[in-house]
Amino acid sequence: MKSFIFVFSLIAIILTVNAVPSQHNKRGITFQSCPNHNPLPVTIKPDPPVANQLVLFNVSGTLTKDIIMSEITSLKVYFLDKSLIEISRPYNQYFNKTYNVGTLFTMAVNVSVPNLPDSYIIVVSVGDMFGDSFSCLYAGDGNADSICGHYCFTF
Ligand SMILES: *[C@@H]1O[C@H](CO)[C@@H](O)[C@H](O)[C@H]1NC(C)=O
Ligand SMILES: *[C@@H]1O[C@H](CO)[C@@H](O)[C@H](O)[C@H]1NC(C)=O
Ligand SMILES: *[C@@H]1O[C@H](CO)[C@@H](O)[C@H](O)[C@H]1NC(C)=O
Repeated sequence: MKSFIFVFSLIAIILTVNAVPSQHNKRGITFQSCPNHNPLPVTIKPDPPVANQLVLFNVSGTLTKDIIMSEITSLKVYFLDKSLIEISRPYNQYFNKTYNVGTLFTMAVNVSVPNLPDSYIIVVSVGDMFGDSFSCLYAGDGNADSICGHYCFTF
């Protein structure tokens, strides 16, 4: 009986391990917030993005410490390879309205998806034209410290 259970568990483990890679490409993308940044929910459509098509990024929420200033604050999107090299021109769209601290805002933008390598990283940031990023989120296989250190500065 014991060995039967053992073999059964082993088969279950093998099946589980095999199931992971095949699900990988269909699974949606999860964004994580960089440390010391205002986390914001980001949704994308389609999820995951498709190479050479448009993907709609929707960032909606409130900043708890910073003001979004019209024509000064922007939403930036970067597609990076696993060495953190940009694989397309960064997307940068300025807000056209000012939102005070704690005010709900929504910014939905269509971004061109480049040719995607097997492994890539997306960075979404809300910040000002002086390089200060208020909210910064990333998705993909990469080291949070180096991604956030390279693309998400706070002053
Ligand atoms: C973006 O998300 C917000 C909050 O969920 C929603 O109200 C809004 O309709 C969305 N915009 C688009 C263009 O999908
Ligand atoms: C401001 O930006 C929003 C999208 O963020 C857009 O729907 C709207 O048309 C823009 N308004 C003006 C006056 O440009
Ligand atoms: C994004 O593109 C889709 C498909 O072309 C379009 O229906 C939608 O209105 C666009 N949304 C924005 C915010 O540009």
